[in-house]
Amino acid sequence: MPEKVTAITTPEALKAFLNSPLSIGGRPLKNRMVMAPMAGLGHIALRQLVDEFGGFGLLFTGMCSAKALPHENPEVSRVFSWRPEELPHTVCQIFGPEPAIMALAAQRVEQEGFFGVDLNFGCSVAAICKKGSGAALLKTPDLAVKIVEAVRNAVSCPVFVKFRTGWHNDPEAAARMAAAFESAGADALTFHPRVAPDRRSRPPRWKVIGQVQEAVSIPVFGNGNLFDTQDGITMVQTTGCQGLSLGRMAVARPWIFAQWTRDFTPGPTIYLTCALKLAELLSRHYEDVFAVKCFKKIAPYFCANFKFSQSILKELVRAQTMKEITANIHRLMDPPPETSSRPNLNLFV
Ligand SMILES: Cc1cc2nc3c(=O)[nH]c(=O)nc-3n(C[C@H](O)[C@H](O)[C@H](O)COP(=O)(O)O)c2cc1C
Repeated sequence: MPEKVTAITTPEALKAFLNSPLSIGGRPLKNRMVMAPMAGLGHIALRQLVDEFGGFGLLFTGMCSAKALPHENPEVSRVFSWRPEELPHTVCQIFGPEPAIMALAAQRVEQEGFFGVDLNFGCSVAAICKKGSGAALLKTPDLAVKIVEAVRNAVSCPVFVKFRTGWHNDPEAAARMAAAFESAGADALTFHPRVAPDRRSRPPRWKVIGQVQEAVSIPVFGNGNLFDTQDGITMVQTTGCQGLSLGRMAVARPWIFAQWTRDFTPGPTIYLTCALKLAELLSRHYEDVFAVKCFKKIAPYFCANFKFSQSILKELVRAQTMKEITANIHRLMDPPPETSSRPNLNLFV
């Protein structure tokens, strides 16, 4: 049974809760704060950057096609690639509509040595849903449950499911699905309380996280619009969720885990050192054109930290090569630009 959450009203109490022991599928986590899966953002380079700050419980990869996975070559793949040392704390997310294919992909994930496998039942992007994957599976819960069962029977590593409220705001249906995923063998859930057509436009309804956690005895990681420790406190306190999953804030502030779960305090040069490190890691892992593309994808989240975020972003991404990006970083971040405590959400797509 999940532990009862006692009064968590301060960042210190939140830290203590996040650092309290939690095992998933019999495997202990470093803590209860995880980086959410993000296609195009949560690649090997960003994960390495987050890893250098530490303070997280698990990192999730962006979604990988289950169909492609059994034949994917990590030496050349841009999504299915990792550093051996990150495997013990990294979960690989897969998507697809067919139980047997998802099971085969999960076996590959397990063979490679990831901490666990995560099933994507939440992505509402048209290209994914059109093929019956991601959030489309929430329209056919029986099939979604079959996928969980097939994966459960195929692997012994922890099985996670990430899902949303569904296609209508029906918290009871979401809670029923959660219970069905647990019965089918899921070890943990990540729940994002938005309906699929919302994407990220309207605020998530955190209350539904509580209804989902109530319906199961496995841990639920609450997800959606966690920006500062007060948000974390409110989510844990009001929903009783057993862990927190942060997406975009981990891109904006890769040190956020270390800040919330340890005593890390970022200094004024953090933006300069972090941007330079990211540029270096992207260049290490990818060829220049793709590295530039990745940097430009991350840049809006990073620049959302600054008071004059839009103009800094425009200057930062005016570049064709990583060399130019690096020169821009030096010019724009040294001395450090003025920051705002909450990010400019217009840049959080
Ligand atoms: C660019 C981007 C890519 C995403 N890709 C995935 C994905 O591959 N799989 C998934 O389950 N969720 C994906 N998400 C959703 C996030 O995991 C998360 O649910 C969402 O961003 C809300 O959390 P946040 O407010 O902490 O960012 C993505 C989000 C963003 C912004």
